[in-house]
Amino acid sequence: MRLFIAIELPDAVKQTLGRLRTEIPGARWVVPDQLHLTLAFLGETDQETAQSLTTKLADIQARGFDLRFGSTGCFPDKRRPRVVWIGFEPEPLLQKLAALVRAAVLASGIPQEERPFSPHITLARLRAPASIAGFPDGPVAISSVPVREFTLFESRLTSSGAIHTAIRSFGLLDPPLE
Ligand code: 2AM
Repeated sequence: MRLFIAIELPDAVKQTLGRLRTEIPGARWVVPDQLHLTLAFLGETDQETAQSLTTKLADIQARGFDLRFGSTGCFPDKRRPRVVWIGFEPEPLLQKLAALVRAAVLASGIPQEERPFSPHITLARLRAPASIAGFPDGPVAISSVPVREFTLFESRLTSSGAIHTAIRSFGLLDPPLE
């Protein structure tokens, strides 16, 4: 199974993000229904490892939080865009959740990238760098997302793109009082 762990988005937010789609030559836009915030990518994982990981994920005690959208951006940068994304206002509870999830993945024997966690939602992927003129630059007004769980997903690669299926969601503790 090819697995990853992500935060699901409410349908209304997915639809709003879907409307950010613009004409970028050669861009492959993620279908709105599949938009998500990846916490950890596991890749091909055997059943036994997935079982052990699931137990560890269920043991995570992290607080829920509200995510506020930030600016759009590109990897590696806007001059050579390969991935077009939208980011978030800094949120320490998101960083904490990602650190706990990645520690659980590592403890299950699945290697993780050394790069620091850089929270984003991938909106489009480009095979070759192209002009992103016309794509909204800077902060985008979208209502914040209440995050109360995270989800283990299977990603099946097909000729018409990846198909994501939620395997199990894990609840977060109540958010701190304002
Ligand atoms: P990202 O594009 O939002 O960074 C499911 O495949 C998710 O896992 C992708 O949306 C991608 O999230 C993330 N991912 C991270 N590393 C990956 C890799 N080496 N191959 C495929 N997906 C990866």
